[in-house]
Amino acid sequence: MTYVVTQHCVDCKYTDCVSVCPVDAFHEGDRMVYINPDICVNCDACVPACPVEAIFSEENLPASQVPYLQLNAEGAAKHPTLNRKKPALASAKNLDELKALDAQGYKPPGLP
Ligand code: F3S
Repeated sequence: MTYVVTQHCVDCKYTDCVSVCPVDAFHEGDRMVYINPDICVNCDACVPACPVEAIFSEENLPASQVPYLQLNAEGAAKHPTLNRKKPALASAKNLDELKALDAQGYKPPGLP
């Protein structure tokens, strides 16, 4: 099992999650972060740290977010580790805004 970063992270990247990870399992891409499934120890620390509810355990992954399981493994393999918080992207939205987009069926361009 692993934890998975999902759609709400895309174009937001708040990075509160990376600073609480005890094993440096996060990797930073341009638009989101990824959890390396080979490093994640399933501690659950990152889930409450994310202000936009972007992280799920694999077993609680919503059906719409299943493609992100593979995307995390691939993204982690391609990008460097990030273990310190940095400013969120200028395009970051708050949770209410993201939930409103979810209700409209929004999918970020270029992502599953
Ligand atoms: Fe992304 Fe949430 Fe971490 S927006 S960078 S998963 S704190």
